[in-house]
Amino acid sequence: MRNFINISDISKKELRIIIDNATVRKKKRTDNSKNAIDADALLDGKILVMIFEKPSTRTRISFDLAVKQLGGKSVTLNPDEIHYGSGNESLPDTAKVLSQYADIIMLRTHVHKKVLDFSKYLNIPIINGLTDLNHPCQIMSDIMTFEELKGPIKNKKITWIGDGNNILHSLIEASVQFGFDLSIACPKGYEPDKKILQWAKKNKSEILITRDALSAAKDSDCIMTDKWISMGDKINKKKKLKALKPYQVNKKIMKVAKKEAIFMHCLPASRGDEVTDDVIDGKQSAVWLEALNRIHVQKSIIEWCLK
Ligand code: CP
Ligand code: NVA
Repeated sequence: MRNFINISDISKKELRIIIDNATVRKKKRTDNSKNAIDADALLDGKILVMIFEKPSTRTRISFDLAVKQLGGKSVTLNPDEIHYGSGNESLPDTAKVLSQYADIIMLRTHVHKKVLDFSKYLNIPIINGLTDLNHPCQIMSDIMTFEELKGPIKNKKITWIGDGNNILHSLIEASVQFGFDLSIACPKGYEPDKKILQWAKKNKSEILITRDALSAAKDSDCIMTDKWISMGDKINKKKKLKALKPYQVNKKIMKVAKKEAIFMHCLPASRGDEVTDDVIDGKQSAVWLEALNRIHVQKSIIEWCLK
């Protein structure tokens, strides 16, 4: 039994196994119907319980489909409708009860520590479905997507333009574990978490942080961004939007990247802010494949957790 909480917790070898297994599983699916069960029905008789303390479209549906394709069942809990969310039951007690009913848990929450606390009291695996600190499932899907389109990500140049947020934190961890170069362009005051950067440095990662979006994008294989205002951001929105204005991914940015570079965004997007329509809808955009691959990579993550 293993938890999937941070990309930095998992060895390079295991992460590679998760990606490669996801790719093999995806290729093996010959039935086009979206919920056709895989031949090995790996989750037959098993239940995934999902708890969302923040909204979700992709994570909710892609986990549900992942479990269906593995032959299992998923149950989604709304924190407003369960005891722990409304304060009637402690987190440890809820964790112990859910361990009786489910085989695996997926939690999307605000404070990262909650996933760690939950994991202490569960005796089944937990998957992090996004916290204010990181979003490892999304970045695993992005690695799979990059490799599907462009081949091995090792030594490639990936550029992040915009807010130093949870998605970027998982991307920084992935740059160490998968061995790609990462350039980050962000405004002062919106840099990624210092501890995560220190961890990357300690693990010999080359990460460039600059204020200049064009220089960060130069000769890049992939330009990535995300919303400037994340769910639950308790900041001065007006001030943040102003600071991030020069960090929009548009034609000018894509032009300095490699000719065959791809554009990635975890979605949901605020079109016209962090990205222009012509880029997100353009030929270089990989955003819909990123969303699709969430299903495949999460099947592989579930399989890995239950081993
Ligand atoms: N990218 C992502 O996790 O999207 P949702 O918030 O819709 O789940
Ligand atoms: N940074 C975004 C990602 C959404 C998938 C947020 O946390 O809202």
